[in-house]
Parts: sequence; structure tokens; C-alpha cells
Amino acid sequence: MIAGIGAVAALGGVASSGAFASTASAAAPPAPRDPRVEALLRRMTIAEKIGQLQLVRDPDVAKSFLAKGSLGGVFNIVGAAALNDLQRIAVEQTRLGIPLIFGLDIIHGYTTNVSIPLAQGASFDPTVTEDGAATAAGEARRSGIHWTYAPMMDVSHEPRWGRIAEGNGEDPYLVSRFAVAATRGFQGDDIAAPDRLAACAKHYVAYGQPEGGRDYNTADLSIQRLHNLYLPPFKAAVEAGVATVMVSFNALNGEPGHANSYTLRDVLKGRYGFDGFVVSDSRAIGELIVHGLVADGAGAATAGLTAGVDMEMTTTNYTTYGEQLLAQHKITRAQLDDAVRRILLIKFRLGLFEHPYADASGEVTAPTAPTRAVARRLAGRCMVLLKNDGVLPLATSVGTIAVIGPLGQATYDLNGTWTGRGTGSATTPPVTVVDGIKAASSATVTFTKGCDVNGADTSGLAAAQDAARAADVAVLVLGESADMSGEAAARSVIDLPGVQQQLVAAIKDTGTPFVVVLVNGRPLTIPYLHDNAPAVLEAWAPGLEGGHAVADVLFGTVNPGGKLPVTFPRAVGQVPIYYNHDNTGRPGDPNVHNTSKYLDLPIGPLYEFGYGLSYTTFRISGLRLSSTRLRRHGTLRVTVEVANTGSRDGDEVVQLYLHDPVASLVQPVRRLRGFERVTLRAGESRDVAFTLTTDDVGFYDNEAEFRVEPGTVEVYVGTSSAATLTASFEVV
Ligand code: NOJ
Repeated sequence: MIAGIGAVAALGGVASSGAFASTASAAAPPAPRDPRVEALLRRMTIAEKIGQLQLVRDPDVAKSFLAKGSLGGVFNIVGAAALNDLQRIAVEQTRLGIPLIFGLDIIHGYTTNVSIPLAQGASFDPTVTEDGAATAAGEARRSGIHWTYAPMMDVSHEPRWGRIAEGNGEDPYLVSRFAVAATRGFQGDDIAAPDRLAACAKHYVAYGQPEGGRDYNTADLSIQRLHNLYLPPFKAAVEAGVATVMVSFNALNGEPGHANSYTLRDVLKGRYGFDGFVVSDSRAIGELIVHGLVADGAGAATAGLTAGVDMEMTTTNYTTYGEQLLAQHKITRAQLDDAVRRILLIKFRLGLFEHPYADASGEVTAPTAPTRAVARRLAGRCMVLLKNDGVLPLATSVGTIAVIGPLGQATYDLNGTWTGRGTGSATTPPVTVVDGIKAASSATVTFTKGCDVNGADTSGLAAAQDAARAADVAVLVLGESADMSGEAAARSVIDLPGVQQQLVAAIKDTGTPFVVVLVNGRPLTIPYLHDNAPAVLEAWAPGLEGGHAVADVLFGTVNPGGKLPVTFPRAVGQVPIYYNHDNTGRPGDPNVHNTSKYLDLPIGPLYEFGYGLSYTTFRISGLRLSSTRLRRHGTLRVTVEVANTGSRDGDEVVQLYLHDPVASLVQPVRRLRGFERVTLRAGESRDVAFTLTTDDVGFYDNEAEFRVEPGTVEVYVGTSSAATLTASFEVV
């Protein structure tokens, strides 16, 4: 579009200050007034109000707060009996009987763990996430939990960062669609329902871009990047009615998230109109001292409350210093009341005053056949076929299958990071790949570990070769153990760990056809597998029914249709590498010397965003636009025909990308603005249509204003971010 004559589209809500400010802003409107909350608030002492701002984990600490008269909530305690014990004290033994809120990290399951969120992003099917979240919500609420610390919606370009596993990938539009689906799945229409939870949009904000990929590390971003890449999922979640928001550990442009009035008050509570409460991350108010922002706990409490963090998790600075800070006028009564109002409002919306206790007879302690079926179906939809020279799908009549590799008989590692109710004896172990393959075929199935996930021991390779030689086909189950992704699990090298690549080489030497199944929580650098393995299936951490779901895909009962929600680099040195990057003045060209490229790597990733294969083939054609012009408040329809040109039924994800070639700020080379996963029978074709508005073509500038500029916009539609089918229209 034409730079310089841009029209600024007015945004709803209050205009931002356009810069980071460490002082409280007047921009945020006060919490909404609810008569039930107001009536209660009038009866509360200062100490009782401050107590509501405290969230603790330890039951004894909880009891000591309750003995003093007030506590907001408790987290990461499971079991109806333990929860009811604490609730009874709050409801029956404190002056006002305000119930506790019980939180838990239910990230991808309570007892029924489904595929990790990164895998869910690969489904390109938000109903996967909505179903998974609804299943988890039902199990957890019936067990006494009210509040989950999910969905995690951190857009990330950092495969070294272990927590990339917990989000839905690198694209703000994709992540936003999943954030909305998860919010709907957890919360439904009414968080008071007996099978729903209050959700928590986290981690606010830019946590997914830590320098060096190390967890908790600093992010330094322009305002336009913050608003174009990292904030959109939070905006979408607020619009979807998310009940709570959790702040991120990182400093952003020099300000720790927990002291950032711009992001919390101006943007979240002001511009977005968020009316729920903001919770700190664990110990993060106290860590404002370690960041070097304040000298002591009183300073930390002042900074957090002033910025708009309503509830403090684990550390106790608000409750220790709150009264003193009020007396010294370092915080105001209005700030305190605003935080308390928000917390009480969510407690009322959850129906805790009417139903504070869990019905112990309804507690869920194990998965059921229906929840297992959900987990199996979802895991199949999340898998991505990265390579297939024809060895897949396997025939069920195959004689002997050698399952080889350190994750072939893995149980809890298939859950990946976070496991809801816990691991080990507290939960049911996932189905192993060996057991899944045995259940799906009449083959003789052997298992040989070959090597560990990590370590340098190659002594098992010879036995693995013997097993491969004795089989018709080998299935190598490789990747990362559960503890290699998630919180504080950064890796500086993202290859297959240990000697697993040597194991692949050893199996290749036997001449037996083989398939690699990857179990992992992040993109891996796997050019060796691409060049040497006949087939590679990305299964991610597939959860409780992982073994069955892998077998479903290996034998073709499920035709893989997932797509990568995140770029797979060739080497870690390319990081950050992502599809929606800006253009340089000298885009990479292998034949021209002074262009943006590496001397020692081809240009581009190993597998691009949106990439994934199927056992059938698809053709997308007939791109047509309903108009050559898109007007303000108007719409424009983009239609293509998608045809299954192969001989099997299957799924394709039709993806729509836009590019604005001339704009007042350099625009990404592509931006995803539509996708639809369609199932087509062999030979079937159908039209897929996307409706665009000016919301799809605009962007935020460095004053955080949304700009829609007149001019040309290019459309690309295809089966990955490398789509070539193209057309253009004018924004007028
Ligand atoms: C720290 C993590 O960053 C956050 O995601 C989690 O919800 C809390 N701990 C509570 O367990």
C-alpha cells in the first residue's frame, strides 16, 4: 500500500500513551461495579481486602492466612478432600466466609492428557483445542478445581525456549484462533457450570521472545512488534471473555512485566477493557527486587499494585506491606478496592458463594473410555507427516515390526510438559508406541531401546541393528524426554539429543526400511533425518493415548493432516527464523553476493510454517476474489477450489496469506489471515472461501495505532506459507 497517506483507523477503547511508562496511567477504567461485590466490599476491613489479594500453594500457609481472617486462593493442590478442608475453614471460620478460589496448571489435561499445545496448533483445527479444554475442564471442576492457568498464548520464534511446547506456535493469527478456542473450551458460556473453569490468559506479555532462548530472559521489542505479534492473542482472549490474565516473568523494554503499567493498565485493562483479575506469576512480585527494579518487598508490592497486578502468587509482599503502603499513601484505597473488586467478581461469576465445596463423590481420578477417545482422536489430528518416500502407511499384514529407540516404550514422556493432576502413581500412564502398534496389527512386534534419549552410550546400537535386520520394517521412536521442554528447559542445540542420530545411521546401514516417529516439545534441527530417513512423522508429545494415535497414523487408519505451527530451522544458528519476517533491502539470493544469507546454509528453513504432507495429494486452484477492491467496513471474499487428487480420503489445510508490498512500516513477507482444515474423499473437490475485512490488512504502528493504508494487497493461497497461487486487490 502507499506509504505516507495512511488512514488511521480509530480503535475502540482508550488511546494508548504510545510509550512505556512506569507510573500508573489514568487510562484504565475502574473495575465494573457488581451489586454483590459492592455489598461485600462495604463490609470488608482493610486487612480482609488485602488478604483477598494473596494466592498461596502450601496448605499450612493457607491455614495461617485464614486464621488471620482472609485469603484469596490456593493453587496446585489436588483432591476434593484436601480442597474441601481448606474451603471449610474459609467459608465457616472466617468472619465474612468468602470462599477460596482453587487454581491448578491444567495445560493440556487433568487426568486425560491430550497432545501438548504446540501439537494442537499443528492441527490447524481450533475445535481440537476446544474439545481438549472442555474435557479437562469437566474433569477438573468435578474434582474441586475452579481455575486453570491456561491457555498459554505466547507467540514464539524461539525453538531453544522450552516453553514453546506450551503455546500454539509462531503466528499471532493462528495463536489467537486457538486462544479463543481454549477460552471457550475451558469456560463455556458460564464459568459457574459444574464442568467449566475460569481460564487464565498467560503469560502477559512477550514471554515467548527471551534473548538467547533462555527462560525468564529479557525481551526488547518495538511497540509495533509488541502489538502486531505478541498482543493479538491476549486481545482475542479478552474479547472471548477470559476471566483472568497471568503476567510474564520477563522484563520488556526494561520494565519487568509485573511493574508494567503500560501493558497492564493502559493496554489490557484500558484499551482492551479486561474486567477480570490479573494474577502474578509465582514469586514474580518478590523477584522485582532481583530484577533490580525495587530495593525491597514494600517497593515490590507498590510496583505490582500500581501497575495493576491484582493478586500475588506465592510471595507475600502485598499482605506484608499493604496496610503500611496505604498509610504512607504509596498505594491508594482506590487501587486496593479495584483489585479486590476484580477478584470477588470472578469468585461470584464462578458461583463459589453458592457452591464453595466439591462433591467428593464426583471427583475424577482417572480417564474414562470417552475421554480416552477424545485424546486419541485429537492426537491423530495433531501429527504432521514431514517426509514419506512411500514406506507409509504400513500394511497391517506386515510380518515383523521392530520398534527401536529410547521412546518406543516411553510412558509419561509421551505426556510432555505439565500433567494436570500429576505424574507417576497419581495418574494413568500413557499407552506406549509398542503397545499401540501391537494393538493395531497382527505383526510380531519386537522392542529394542538402542540408546537413551541423552548420553553418549552407543553399546546398544548393535542389538538395535540385529532387531532391524530381523524385521520387515523398523519404527524408530526418537526425540526428547518430557523434561526437555517446558519451564526452565532451554536447549542451546536443538538436534536429536544424545546418540540418537547415530542410531538412525546404524539402522539405515541394515537396509531395512524404516520410519522415524518424533516425540518432542519444540522444533528440532533434523536435516539428517530429512536426507536419510524414508519417512518422518512428527507426533509431538501425544498424551495419554499416544501409542494408539501413532499406530492409527502409521497404519493409515488416520491420514495425517497436521501442519507445522512453527518453522523448523536447518540449524540452530538460523534462530530466530520465522515465516512472517520483514523483508530486507537485500533479500537472500544464493547467486548474489551481498544479500541476506548464510555462507554455510541454504536460504530458508528445513520445513516452513504451515508445511505437512498427507497419504493423498491435493490441488488448490481457481483463486478468485469477489471484488478487486476492499473498502473501509466492507468485505472481500477469496475463494479457491481444493481437490483431493489422490486415492485416499484425507485432510488438507487451506491457508490464506496476505502481503502489503508498500506501506509506511516494512511489512512481513507473508501474514496468515485465514485457514480451514477440510476433509475430502478421494477424488472429491470443493470450494473454500475466506472473508477479509480491513482488520486483516491493517497493522499497528509504533504509536500503537492501527493503520489501514490504501493501496495494493497481495493474496496467496495454498498448503503452506510457501503458497504460490496469487492475486491482488486494492484497499480504497
Ligand atoms: C510458573 C509458570 O510460569 C506458570 O506458567 C504457572 O502457571 C505457575 N508457575 C503456577 O504453577
